Amino acid sequence: AAGLGGVAESSGRYVGTAVDPNRYTDGSYGTILDTEFNSVTAENAMKWDALQPSRGQYNWAQADRIMQRAEATGQMVRGHTLVWHSQTPSWVQNLSATELRQVMVDHITTVMTRYKGRIAHWDVVNEAFNDDGSRRQSFWQQKLGDSYIADAFRAARAADPSAKLYINDYSTDAINAKSTAIYNLVRQFKQQGVPIDGVGFQAHLIINQVPGDFRQNLQRFADLGVDVAITELDIRMQTPSDAQKLATQKADYQKSFAACWAVTRCKGVTIWGITDKFSWIPDVFPGQGAALVWNESYQKKPAYDGAVAGM
Ligand code: XIL
Repeated sequence: AAGLGGVAESSGRYVGTAVDPNRYTDGSYGTILDTEFNSVTAENAMKWDALQPSRGQYNWAQADRIMQRAEATGQMVRGHTLVWHSQTPSWVQNLSATELRQVMVDHITTVMTRYKGRIAHWDVVNEAFNDDGSRRQSFWQQKLGDSYIADAFRAARAADPSAKLYINDYSTDAINAKSTAIYNLVRQFKQQGVPIDGVGFQAHLIINQVPGDFRQNLQRFADLGVDVAITELDIRMQTPSDAQKLATQKADYQKSFAACWAVTRCKGVTIWGITDKFSWIPDVFPGQGAALVWNESYQKKPAYDGAVAGM
C-alpha cells in the first residue's frame, strides 16, 4: 500500500479508516480510501441495527460492499461491533433475559460465521463501562448481569477462532478509573481462561488534550498479554479551524500515533473517517469538528504529516 497504510506496513502495522459505502463515489473519497489505508472499519454497516433490524432478518448488502472493496484492495477489516447498547434495535432491548442471552449468541455466531476468516479483528463488546469504572447499566447489563461480556467473547471465539477478539471503549486513553476497570477485566479474563485478544482505545480526542500517559496506558495492557489498537481516532476543535489550531492538531496526531508506535503490541491506528465533510463530530458535539486528516474539500491537513511523523 502507498500513503499512511504503506508507512504503517513497513513496521508491520496498519492505518485504517472508518468507511461508509454510500460515500465511495463522493469526490476523492474512493481514491483516498484505496490508496491511503491498509485497514477499514465499517462506520455503521456492521452494527446490529444495520445487520439484523428485525429478528432473524439480516441485511448484508452494505457490509458485503465493504468486504468486497477491502478485499479487492488488499486491506484488512476490523469488525465493529457485535454487542453494544447503542444502534441496537428495540426488539432486542425488549427481550426477556433468557431470550436476550440466546439472541446475543445467535447474532454473534451468524455475523462472525458469514465473514469467517476474513475479518481480522472484531470489537466484540463496545462501551460496557462508565467513566467511574462501574459497569454501564445498559439493557445488556441490567438483564444479563456481569456475565454477558464473557459469554459474548466465548461465543465469538467459537464462531471464528481466527479472529482477534477486542473489547473497545472511549475515554480510556489515559490511566483512569475507566481504563483501570477494563484492565482488571482483561486480567480476570486471562486468569479465568475467557478468550480475549485485544483492547481497543477509541481516542475521540480534543486538540491540546492528548493524554500524556497514553503510551504508558497502552503498555500496561500489552503487559497483560493482549494486543492493543487505537480504533476510532479523531481530534476535534472548536470550529472554524485556523492555522494555529491545525498546527496543534498536527502535533496531537503525531503524539497519538507515536503512543501506538512505541508499544510493540499496538497493532495500528484507525482514524474515524476520511474527510471532515462526513465526520460524526459536528452532529454530536455542536460547534466542534475539523477532527480528521482531510478537510471538507479532500485536501490533506497538517495532521497528515503529523501522523506520518508519529510512525
Ligand atoms: C458513530 C458513527 O460515526 C455515526 O455515523 C453514527 O451516527 C453513530 O456512531 N463510538 C463508536 C462508534 O464505537 O461506533 C461511533 O460511531 C462513535 C462513538
